Amino acid sequence: MVRSSASVAKSRASMAAVRGMSSHPGIVPNLGTGSMGMAMNQIDPRCSVLCELPDKPGALFVLLSFFWKHEVQLTAIESRPVTGSDQTMTIQMSFAGSREDPIIQKLVTDMSKKCRSILVLDEKVVPWFPRHISDLDLIANRTLDAGGDLESDHPGFNDPTYRERRAKLAEVAQTYRWNEPIPYIDYEQYELDTWGAGECIFRCFHFVISLSFHIIYPLSSCVNRTMYCVLHMSFLIFLSNGTWFFFVLSLPPVYDELEKKRHLACREYREILPNMEKHCGYSNKNIPQAQDISMFLQQCTGFRLRPVAGLLSSRDFLNGLAFRVFFSTQYIRHSSRPLYTPEPDICHELLGHAPMFADPAFADFSQEVGLASLGASDDDIKRLATCYWHTVEFGLLKENGELRAYGAGVLSSFGEMSHACENVTRDDAPTYLPWNPEVASRTDYPITTYQPTYFVAESLADAKNKLIEFTEQMPKPFYARYNALTQTVWVDKHIQREKDSLSAQVEKVSYGS
Ligand SMILES: [Fe+2]
Repeated sequence: MVRSSASVAKSRASMAAVRGMSSHPGIVPNLGTGSMGMAMNQIDPRCSVLCELPDKPGALFVLLSFFWKHEVQLTAIESRPVTGSDQTMTIQMSFAGSREDPIIQKLVTDMSKKCRSILVLDEKVVPWFPRHISDLDLIANRTLDAGGDLESDHPGFNDPTYRERRAKLAEVAQTYRWNEPIPYIDYEQYELDTWGAGECIFRCFHFVISLSFHIIYPLSSCVNRTMYCVLHMSFLIFLSNGTWFFFVLSLPPVYDELEKKRHLACREYREILPNMEKHCGYSNKNIPQAQDISMFLQQCTGFRLRPVAGLLSSRDFLNGLAFRVFFSTQYIRHSSRPLYTPEPDICHELLGHAPMFADPAFADFSQEVGLASLGASDDDIKRLATCYWHTVEFGLLKENGELRAYGAGVLSSFGEMSHACENVTRDDAPTYLPWNPEVASRTDYPITTYQPTYFVAESLADAKNKLIEFTEQMPKPFYARYNALTQTVWVDKHIQREKDSLSAQVEKVSYGS
């Protein structure tokens, strides 16, 4: 076979890397754009063969000795039964290197002399997935909504100021690249008020108005009542430009409300949050910055946040978790409804999700879901996304016989915390099932109401271990691991990632290939 010198050099380079002759392992190169980034985007070459061997002692040992002889790294080996024969065994072996490489060809030739038959397998085509952490730039902007384009039933749809703000934050996320610090957001006062406690003066208003309505108002005459209401409403609207009126009159801020239910969060959350208050600026008067949280998480577990403009597809979102990256929005819900949001916002991301990523077992659990999603079929993505929903979003666990929340959808919802973890013996209590990924992956769920069914793990470690068992049983064309040093995904089999039109287009823009 005639090959170009470039392809030979490339094969040699990959073989050198396989034999441990790569660059210094402590240096993580900047791979944002250019030829190096493109190189890291490629899947390491693999070759897979199917061998039929005589079923006798030492037969496999002889084959393995050829790998030592040719210094080729074996990446996967599995035996398969041969129907109707008890004298032959079939072994599938995958190893580093391409089938065109002369060393690999010599290896296969040697193996063929000891096998009854040997078949070099064609590559398996799988859905495209990111290979290097920089590849997340290719999928981060594939949001299902545009961030600033709100549905007509969104609480902020008729608020031009809010929509303008959403569009601006969406732009920040869309221009972000993987190796940059996350831009700090200068949150407006009305955003701080939705997040946490209002200023003292407005607290006083809340108190006075509540007192007035409960004591003075019922004692007044009809005319006085009307005048009273008009005066107070005018005064508040004047002071608050409309927004404050709704907030002060009836609706409490998110941070304070969740604090009242914090005892229903799992131990890990309760222990981590004070640290994040200390190191990341969490408080009811301050919205912590994604960059500070991301730095904190990286020191704890290697997880990091990455800004995103809106909702991603399940595949793209889960793929990010494989790299210990959590796509996080930077906007806040509309101030008219501080205890409700139709989409993930910073109250959900930062109060629900972020603290849990500082726990090693939870971080590993989340990454396992992500690794299993790489190159998975659409059906398996759906099963994994459903497992994700019943755990990372709405998972419960047992703590000294009591139910405690570790899922972000529960942790970030005052009402759902109570619904899920309190008064569990009441007539309309939800159903509680032991955590079982197989069952959970087939259990439908509502997205606009409290959950009717919760899966309860014995602990976070229990949640992780059962999920790993589940993902290992899923039929997959390859096995993936994440190398934190090189920030790349390692695969064991000979595969080809298919390219959908959008990812191919973005890749062309980013890497100039
Ligand atoms: Fe979430």
